[in-house]
Amino acid sequence: MKSRFDYLEEMSIDTEWLRRAQKVVQTSSPGKNTLSNIQNEASECNKCILASTRDNIVFGSGNPNSKLMIIGEAPGKDEDLIGEPFVGRAGKLLDEILFSMGITRDNVYITNTVKCRPPENRNPSHEEIESCSDYLNQQIKSINPTVIILLGKIAANRILGTEETMSDLRQKVFTHKLTKIPTIVFYHPAYLLRSPSQKKNMWDDIKFTLEFIKKNDCKIN
Ligand code: URA
Repeated sequence: MKSRFDYLEEMSIDTEWLRRAQKVVQTSSPGKNTLSNIQNEASECNKCILASTRDNIVFGSGNPNSKLMIIGEAPGKDEDLIGEPFVGRAGKLLDEILFSMGITRDNVYITNTVKCRPPENRNPSHEEIESCSDYLNQQIKSINPTVIILLGKIAANRILGTEETMSDLRQKVFTHKLTKIPTIVFYHPAYLLRSPSQKKNMWDDIKFTLEFIKKNDCKIN
């Protein structure tokens, strides 16, 4: 049987980061095993219709002790096949964004608002995000990052409970209601792939975020 690494390598995706991230998870302190409990629970989940079409749940990956947590929208086809978030083209761009912030996937924890792929890559519905929100909230509490970055309008609107547009959401620091963790919104990398002219704005948003992190001593790496 093919491993997830075989699938990734067939797609010419560098798997080094994933191997390192898994090592971090495996060697994390025993007291931090709550994440794997939440993951076990999520892997049996049938709370919404997405359970009937998934190949794998895409729970999250990276450093469970991370100071920076990144929350995307929903897994796509590649993620569903492999069971890891952001492994496709949008993931490559996310890696570049992290690199320009001076960090790698080893330094962060990445997940999505929903843990199963919506068919045909449609947006997850309010109900689907709501059904999955308990897993996400438990992940946030377990990791307890110093900063959260939300990718795109869908994740931002649902998690922050707003209807604001991306231009209203950018370069502001919100507060995650449940945990009071400072939360910043970035363009979704998939949007940037479709609208490369926005990459300049992305760079401004990165600078804004790095400034906030420095001023508040958030220690993300
Ligand atoms: N887009 C997302 O929002 N999440 C993924 O995991 C992949 C693509």
